[in-house]
Amino acid sequence: MQPMVNLDALRAEAQRVLQLNNRGEFTTPSPHQYPHQWNWDAAFIAFGWAHFDLARAHTEIRSLLRAQWRNGMVPHIIYHHGASDYFPPPEFWQTQGLAHGGDILSSGLTQPPVLATMVRRIHERFPEDASENIFLREVFPKLVAWHRWLHTARDVDGTGLPCLIHPWESGADNSPRWLTLLDQITPFDLPAYTRRDTTHVLAEERPRAQDYERFVFLIDRGRRVQWNDAELLATHPFLVQDVMFCSILHRADQDLLALAKTLNADTREIEAWVEKTRSVFNTRFWNEERGLYLDYDARAGAPIPVNTCATFAPLYAGLATNFQAARLLRDHYENPREYAPSAGSKFRVPSTAKDEPGYAPRRYWCGPIWMLLNWLTAQGLEDYGFRAQAQELQRQSFELLQTHGIREYYDPRDGSGLGGKDFAWTAALALALADMNLE
Ligand code: SER
Repeated sequence: MQPMVNLDALRAEAQRVLQLNNRGEFTTPSPHQYPHQWNWDAAFIAFGWAHFDLARAHTEIRSLLRAQWRNGMVPHIIYHHGASDYFPPPEFWQTQGLAHGGDILSSGLTQPPVLATMVRRIHERFPEDASENIFLREVFPKLVAWHRWLHTARDVDGTGLPCLIHPWESGADNSPRWLTLLDQITPFDLPAYTRRDTTHVLAEERPRAQDYERFVFLIDRGRRVQWNDAELLATHPFLVQDVMFCSILHRADQDLLALAKTLNADTREIEAWVEKTRSVFNTRFWNEERGLYLDYDARAGAPIPVNTCATFAPLYAGLATNFQAARLLRDHYENPREYAPSAGSKFRVPSTAKDEPGYAPRRYWCGPIWMLLNWLTAQGLEDYGFRAQAQELQRQSFELLQTHGIREYYDPRDGSGLGGKDFAWTAALALALADMNLE
């Protein structure tokens, strides 16, 4: 018999974890592994705070957007309190003093733009609140500037689909879809460095040494061109279009459009982004033969033939046709060789298909379950009318959270917790999953 979820206890635990990671002006993803502010973590964490403290939710987002670059980019790590024992330290990025940069120590990379979606969800909880409407008017133009930068400065082929210059920008660092490209890159002139990510987490739960070396190499290539957008598109060795990143951006564009209408702001530019993505997305990413979505290597001009959980993100974005949605479910989501439970692998959704050569059930994004992916996939299943599947995924997620705690990720085989402990992102996503009324 599956354990019933105690939602009150889960919500109380989520609030404890947010408070534990509260650093006043921002929230750390976890007390030790990630001691700064991360971009897409902060977006969900702000939504989590909004369940208890609207002002604190506003503070989280204001802190993130204070680090916005003059070219519109919102960086993925913000070092509000300077260096820590985390690698890379702020000075490693060489982002200080850039004309197009920002005024707070940050990385030179961005992350999936889920922020506008979370800003909309927070607004929908407090539509009449005076402080909320002041906040919304303040952040709306900053969100538009970030989306504009993504659709223009990172547009390498006129599709408006943004390119990523580092696996960390996808949020799914060592996903096998990126490792196939990293394996083809031979680092040179590598700066001296000492990784610190295996100080608090077991090495077998983190990226391999050869992958981390390429992460560092790509950072060095970026800083050598002063993070110049045009130079990066023209010469950077890693340049991809990510199905999940583009799906998250498309849903966020639609949320931004809704916010524009709430504010009686001009909608034409945002409507153009939405329409353009709709017109190019399936041509760029859908593979008819395999019945799934594949990321695209924009440097080589070819699909990346690796089956990961990103293939379900277009459901969250509303970009799949009903036929494509049905194939994704029949051939992949319900397939025990890939994403469905099977002997010795009880839980959904593994971040990489179990029959992929790069699948590793305890190694970061090579197979472990992430509550972000479960929430995003459940939302997409619900939106396409697969309510029973969404309910089951919500229930499995609650079982993981209730039985194995608020962890960074989980082993699909037995649900055991992995990575960072007391993970604020996971706590916020527990609240988002609990908000899903799937009865
Ligand atoms: N996820 C990266 C790390 O593990 C940073 O974004 O350090």
